[in-house]
Amino acid sequence: MKHKLWIAVLAMLCALAFVFAGCSDPKGQQEENDQTAPPPSASGQGSALIAYFSCTGNTEGVAELIAEETGGTLWEIVPEVPYTDADLDYSNDDCRANREQNDENARPAIADEVDDMAAYDTVFIGHPIWWGDAPRIIQTFLESYDFSGKEVYTFSTSGSSSGSGAFSALEREYPEIDFAENLHFTSSQLSSAQTRVQNWIEELGIVNDEQANRISFTIGGETDYATLYDNSVARDLVSRLPLTLEFSDYNGTEKIAYLPDGSEDWDLSDAPSSCTPSAGELTMYSPWGNLAIFYRDFRSSNGLVPVGSLDDGGIGLFAAQSGTFTVTIMAA
Ligand SMILES: Cc1cc2nc3c(=O)[nH]c(=O)nc-3n(C[C@H](O)[C@H](O)[C@H](O)COP(=O)(O)O)c2cc1C
Repeated sequence: MKHKLWIAVLAMLCALAFVFAGCSDPKGQQEENDQTAPPPSASGQGSALIAYFSCTGNTEGVAELIAEETGGTLWEIVPEVPYTDADLDYSNDDCRANREQNDENARPAIADEVDDMAAYDTVFIGHPIWWGDAPRIIQTFLESYDFSGKEVYTFSTSGSSSGSGAFSALEREYPEIDFAENLHFTSSQLSSAQTRVQNWIEELGIVNDEQANRISFTIGGETDYATLYDNSVARDLVSRLPLTLEFSDYNGTEKIAYLPDGSEDWDLSDAPSSCTPSAGELTMYSPWGNLAIFYRDFRSSNGLVPVGSLDDGGIGLFAAQSGTFTVTIMAA
């Protein structure tokens, strides 16, 4: 057995880890197989899969943070035969976990299969460190799917060991898989997991689809939201945020505002050239370059590009304004 040193450190740090984990019982004993995550949608949302194996909750906590940050699909690698406390008692050379780690051919079975693995282009795989390596069930997972064309990140947790040995071993064992990076947490680092995960996902440039199409607008201390459509003008608007604009009424039907720099140069490369706006729609009138928020239905208009749709409360908020009023628009 290697890395014996971690055991003493682990004993001191496990209390901290359990604060993060919220439990210390092997999850396999507590939970039914809970593979309830929906398959990814056709819109491309959920194109990241976050698959994780976790017996005492530490890796699971990190997996949840990654799912939150990326908007990806969380999927637990549940062993067909759950690990009991005795199975995880690493002080016993003959416990199941130790026996598996000592047997390079051990491939513990997984209870379920990922729905439509082909739909994911990015896969995060999380695991605890067992004797310096990934548990053998991670190899079962890696050997169950075709990872070609996918970017694979790993994340791991341990008592005190680093995750780099496990990552290099996986890279060596599976040269056909495009392993990009590992993010590792020892138990004393788990309390700062949220910040580290946020920074990591930002560095990787992974965009949370669920958040990317939401904007907020604030008027006189009240904030409401809109969902943007998938077109070039909507993306152009997001690239200009945050914006503080002066809106005023037009025609008793819409509230309009020009960009502060007077720019009318919107990206029309991939956007409809007309629409029939309904109350609650955010649009951009390309001949003048102004944004227009309709609080009443209006007729079909050439040059009017649909940009998004206000949440219900937002329509009332705009309709209630008179004269010129200031609106701050931000990414939500
Ligand atoms: C069989 C076994 C072997 C372990 N080996 C190591 C190790 O080599 N180094 C280490 O720092 N921690 C080791 N640990 C501790 C776990 O890596 C650590 O508690 C991890 O955060 C557990 O993750 P989980 O809660 O997601 O299961 C081991 C734990 C078990 C059960």
